[in-house]
Amino acid sequence: MPSFKFDDVEIPFQPGDTVIRAARRAGLDIPHYCWHPGLSVAANCRMCLVELMPPPGRGPLLLDVVRWDEASQTYIQEKKPKLVPACVQACAEGMEVRSQSSEHVAQARSAVQELLLLNHPVDCPICDQAGECRLQDYWLEHQGTPKRMGDELVHKPKAVVFGPTIVYDAERCVMCTRCIRFSAEVAKDPVLALRERGNLNEVTVAPGRQLDHGYTLMTEYVCPVGALTSVDFRFKARVWFLRTVPSVCQGCATGCPAWLDYDPRDGSAYRYRPRENEAEGQYWMCDEGMLDYRRIHEHRVLQASVDGAPADIFAALEAAASKLRGVPPERLAVVLSAEHSNEDNYALLSLARDYLGTGNVFLTGRPSGVADGILRDADRNSNTAGVMALCTSAPPRSFAELAAAVDSGKITHLLSLGSSVPQPEQASCLETLEALVALCVHEGPLSERAQVVLPAASWAEGNGSFVNARGLVQESQKAFSPHGDSVPAWKLVSALAGELGYPMNFKRLADVRRAMAPEPGALSAPQPVRLEVL
Ligand code: SF4
Ligand code: SF4
Ligand code: FES
Repeated sequence: MPSFKFDDVEIPFQPGDTVIRAARRAGLDIPHYCWHPGLSVAANCRMCLVELMPPPGRGPLLLDVVRWDEASQTYIQEKKPKLVPACVQACAEGMEVRSQSSEHVAQARSAVQELLLLNHPVDCPICDQAGECRLQDYWLEHQGTPKRMGDELVHKPKAVVFGPTIVYDAERCVMCTRCIRFSAEVAKDPVLALRERGNLNEVTVAPGRQLDHGYTLMTEYVCPVGALTSVDFRFKARVWFLRTVPSVCQGCATGCPAWLDYDPRDGSAYRYRPRENEAEGQYWMCDEGMLDYRRIHEHRVLQASVDGAPADIFAALEAAASKLRGVPPERLAVVLSAEHSNEDNYALLSLARDYLGTGNVFLTGRPSGVADGILRDADRNSNTAGVMALCTSAPPRSFAELAAAVDSGKITHLLSLGSSVPQPEQASCLETLEALVALCVHEGPLSERAQVVLPAASWAEGNGSFVNARGLVQESQKAFSPHGDSVPAWKLVSALAGELGYPMNFKRLADVRRAMAPEPGALSAPQPVRLEVL
């Protein structure tokens, strides 16, 4: 692979790489505001300037500049090397680039930073970006001097409502145009633009429009400063109190990798952020997915119930076992869930196949939606592909087939995972069952009609693996302990098997994964994750 020298380190590059992209792949950071690996290059912030050393035998390209001399109180003419933006400079074999090691670069970054902060209000104490703001971080790393301008700042509009989800503060904006380019290039809706010039520059929404495409929260995500804030998150938490785990969006079969930010003090989820997967070209999430973290807390089943009355979880397990014990296998069915992890589904499938002896395996999940041609999949379930891969002998049958089997009286007892049904009208068949035992995270048609409900932990309350529509296996990690009486579904299944007298005995997630290992390669170990700020 070709390489070039970057601050005396030889780093490889791929054809078409710019210096900033190659450096980033090598784990070396070049400060930047306007560049984003998933967007076109604007090269307007100039924070990424680097010094390109001349080829052997050639002198550097010099610029005439003037410098203020404190001693003589006058400007002095001098020359300095022309710096280049690393976000546009193409890599070439044998080139030499200086970043941290160049005094000229250090001066340029400090000057750019000072310019950006010239009219910037001291909003940090009330700004949602505080703690994760490029202006704060780069001031510390590349400037570190107090403001020299004593004049009144140029004031611009604050708290401008761009749409239902985003609020704009023009005084904090560094005019990097990331939000504009994101809307035009990724969301395919060029609804944002810059207006005016110089220090009157501001981002504006197209006349007669709101910022209301399906990816508005990504404009806040790409904003490197506190100019765009999300209505959902602003003023809710200080980021230094939050902790982060790698998660997987549960909003649809695309299964976007995400960071889940949560408060460990009370086990509450606060937001999702996209988790970059460069190999998959994945940098974004849609609005519905970004807000899907709310389902971790909303409409939860947090207590077991028997015949509609709250029950102790052990009593509910006993009741569930008594409903299922001795039922002829041909009249008993299990329902897997496309919303649950491989581990949860595997445990239930194993109980059905290896112990209950029934081949009546069906699949449920959330109703389908509409694909948007960008990220969003019509399948609103996170693990349909995982369940399909688990069912090696025969694919699970549809919920419509289950409804027909129940209506004809062939199936009389049901053990189900998940709470949704693909079409609401199909739920009425459940009322004719002799027994329905449901393992549910949320309230829904299955929990409402079950005689015994067992509260299952959500994806944020335990580790689990999911397979997205492209066959990518990803792990969602545990953020906090299960809320209420909820327990990971695979554990509930194992406990139920114990009540029924079967030696299933999954005590740890590793036990389930070990049992799952002989299953197809699609369910191999999830990919490792790395924390990164773009
Ligand atoms: S609002 Fe944020 S992303 Fe948009 S131009 Fe200003 S600083 Fe950049
Ligand atoms: S596209 Fe699907 S998986 Fe991705 S963020 Fe949106 S809902 Fe979540
Ligand atoms: S990141 Fe290169 S000019 Fe902004």
